[in-house]
Amino acid sequence: GKGAAMVTAVAYRLAEHSREITQTLSEFRLTTEQLLEVKKRMKIEIQNGLSKSTQEAATVKMLPTFVHSTPDGSEHGDFLALDLGGTNFRVLLVKIRSGKRRTVEMHNKIYSIPLEVMTGTGEELFDHIVQCISDFLDYMGMKNTRLPLGFTFSFPCRQTSLDAVSGVLVTWTKDVVGLLREAIKRREEFDLDVVAVVNDTVGTMMTCAYEEPTCEIGLIAGTGSNACYMEEMRNIEMIDGEEGRMCVNMEWGAFGDNGCLDDIRTDYDRAVDDFSLNSGKQRYEKMCSGMYLGEIVRNILIDMTKRGFLFRGQISETLKTRGIFETKFLSQIESDRLALLQVRSILQHLGLDSTCDDSIIVKEVCGAVSRRAAQLCGAGMAAVVDKIRENRGLDHLNITVGVDGTLYKLHPHFSKIMHQTVIDLAPQCNVNFLLSEDGSGKGAALITAVGCRLRRELNG
Ligand code: GLC
Repeated sequence: GKGAAMVTAVAYRLAEHSREITQTLSEFRLTTEQLLEVKKRMKIEIQNGLSKSTQEAATVKMLPTFVHSTPDGSEHGDFLALDLGGTNFRVLLVKIRSGKRRTVEMHNKIYSIPLEVMTGTGEELFDHIVQCISDFLDYMGMKNTRLPLGFTFSFPCRQTSLDAVSGVLVTWTKDVVGLLREAIKRREEFDLDVVAVVNDTVGTMMTCAYEEPTCEIGLIAGTGSNACYMEEMRNIEMIDGEEGRMCVNMEWGAFGDNGCLDDIRTDYDRAVDDFSLNSGKQRYEKMCSGMYLGEIVRNILIDMTKRGFLFRGQISETLKTRGIFETKFLSQIESDRLALLQVRSILQHLGLDSTCDDSIIVKEVCGAVSRRAAQLCGAGMAAVVDKIRENRGLDHLNITVGVDGTLYKLHPHFSKIMHQTVIDLAPQCNVNFLLSEDGSGKGAALITAVGCRLRRELNG
């Protein structure tokens, strides 16, 4: 009768929806061949970033860091570290002792940067920073020693919202060492030896390398995505000298900015990019870092709602809000221990009224997006470890990657999928992952310490 026909129609529509949902999410499923292709392209971009003739136009910049060595345990002394990120910053005193009982003792104080300073000139900002350092040195009773200082400038990784980048921040990065030295001079109160500016990846690598000497790679899989590793000096054509190694900050987030990943980018990736503050830039990062995964998810959910598969076809104000799906929420939604009812309550908490079917679909969408992110990140890492293996002319390489970042640490599947991808794509490498603790503080101090050790060795 009529009822049966209606039931059939509903069932038919649901089956059709589910087919279309599967179809949409299949765009996020990459084959091993595609991932191998991503690895190959990353290798090409690495080469472009290292070679003199291609460096200028290269997307993956391969920035020299002047860090020539990881810690060997003989570093010692007192060091200052500055960890500048967002509206707070930290000043640290790190006491490193070598010998039989190696210790790293850390003291720190957190200072805030008032909004008017934040939005002011570079000079005003650095005057404020130097005033805080002065307070800290008083507090520690160390005003009269000329301490070496390392500097972590981690705005991109600490950025808490999609549009927290002000123009000033971008221009500061140009010459922070110069600005800091001048501000110290202006104050005429104490002297510091600004030795190192540190990217968070390098801090992470150094912190892990202090415990584990095979650590020669740093990885951040968090709000942003980036890696560094020890490259042969002879391959870094922009820097004179052939001997030894230097750590390069890859800035691999920009991979794909020349269009080389366009065949795997989806319309959702393009939408996220188009509406971002730096559209066209950091395309790889926009596919694999915490800051953007939630945005990709949100764009898919909007599209599926428009097509009538979700939320009864109603696009709520919440769903229109950028940045609602933080890494924290994605991690919760994807947790295996979580019952669907709990997924619904998370969505409810975000202001999204969902049915049970909705919550199943949302969880699937999150899974598809984060899986691809982990695989893409793994493909990039596979390129790096294979490059190092080839550099050293080895059939087999054992190496450790120091890792930090909320996506890696909090997400229930990201790390596992990434590890597996590296195993699949770089079978000649045995890659061990080590979590780093306080790479920006301890790492900055260790880099400074290594810099000072090498300087001492050089001066005999
Ligand atoms: C962004 C920054 C990079 C940083 C990364 C991880 O990609 O450009 O310098 O290492 O985020 O925080």
